[in-house]
Amino acid sequence: MEDQKTLLQAFNQTTYQLAGHSKRDIRQLQLVFQELDGDLQADVYGTGAVIENFQHKMAKYLGKESAVFFPSGTMAQQIAMRIWSEEKGINRVAYHPLCHLEIHEEEGLRKLHGIDAVLLADKHRVIALDDVLGMTEEISCLLLELPQREIGGQLPSYEELQAISRHCKEKGIRLHLDGARLLEILPYYQKTAEEVCALFDSVYISMYKGVGGIAGAILAGDETFTKEAVIWKRRHGGDLISLYPYILTAEANFEARKGKFGEYYEQAKDLAGRYNQCHGVTTIPAVPVSNMFHVHVRLPKERFEQILLSICEETGVGISHYARKVDEHSSYYEVSIGDRYANVPAEKLASVFQVLDQKLREACQE
Ligand SMILES: Cc1ncc(COP(=O)(O)O)c(C=O)c1O
Repeated sequence: MEDQKTLLQAFNQTTYQLAGHSKRDIRQLQLVFQELDGDLQADVYGTGAVIENFQHKMAKYLGKESAVFFPSGTMAQQIAMRIWSEEKGINRVAYHPLCHLEIHEEEGLRKLHGIDAVLLADKHRVIALDDVLGMTEEISCLLLELPQREIGGQLPSYEELQAISRHCKEKGIRLHLDGARLLEILPYYQKTAEEVCALFDSVYISMYKGVGGIAGAILAGDETFTKEAVIWKRRHGGDLISLYPYILTAEANFEARKGKFGEYYEQAKDLAGRYNQCHGVTTIPAVPVSNMFHVHVRLPKERFEQILLSICEETGVGISHYARKVDEHSSYYEVSIGDRYANVPAEKLASVFQVLDQKLREACQE
């Protein structure tokens, strides 16, 4: 008997895909390196023009005194929490129950640094000023993840953000930005990176999400903070002898994409509108506030995956390569708009959503 094709296999054979920038193959590195001069000197243990120039560039862009390149955001942010906790002598920070540190880092903050976390807000909404005001425990730092990825990339209003920032300053609480997707939120807020970062004492931005590099992160703040961060990076073994493959691809992709996030944001709103017109589908948020959102469907994961697979095969368009279970009756997946969306012809897009709507109507009647 012939093996059944998986959704991922079918997705990988489609001509067009709705989300992301490109396949995760090694072309990313090839494309950048073929443009570079082979005589360029590699960075060595955090020094050299390649790393120092990029750090200066990013510090300036974020409006901070100084910036440090890290191999990962996980390392950078745990270190930020450690620095602020030592400064205040309080080993407790606060953040959202679904933030990256809480659900994707295997308790790194507690096990490596002895730092506990107060969880603010609930799993369906972002942190508000009232949550911060209602805290009974003392903390050294409040971490805000903008956008809040696990709830579809929701954001507080800018006024709420300013109010939280003012409160933290008054109370001597350090405010840290998990801005893994910082560029992605600027069009909604209609602010520059510098304006948003001015509300925070320390900032992390990912080099591989919307920016589209291979891996890596920038951690920025004042010089006292980043000097400490450099020491902690060494302690963590994060000072790889050379990080240039990550840095040079980060820089090239940052330059190529930093002006494109307004376009991704508009496209995300357009795409979410199309989803919301389909039977049994809702997006969270209903209207995106960045380039991302979650698509929720009133069908069990396995049934929905069959539909996604048949759409790949019938239309040549990959909507998603997976679905996750919410409960016995519903499933969801995440969409992050990147370069690919603009490549899909308008008539193709319209016909894919007709097919999706039709298949969902039929499946909901089964
Ligand atoms: C919001 C957020 N913060 C932090 C991280 C950690 O980044 P890294 O994969 O570079 O460790 C991620 C990665 O997915 C993330 O989505």
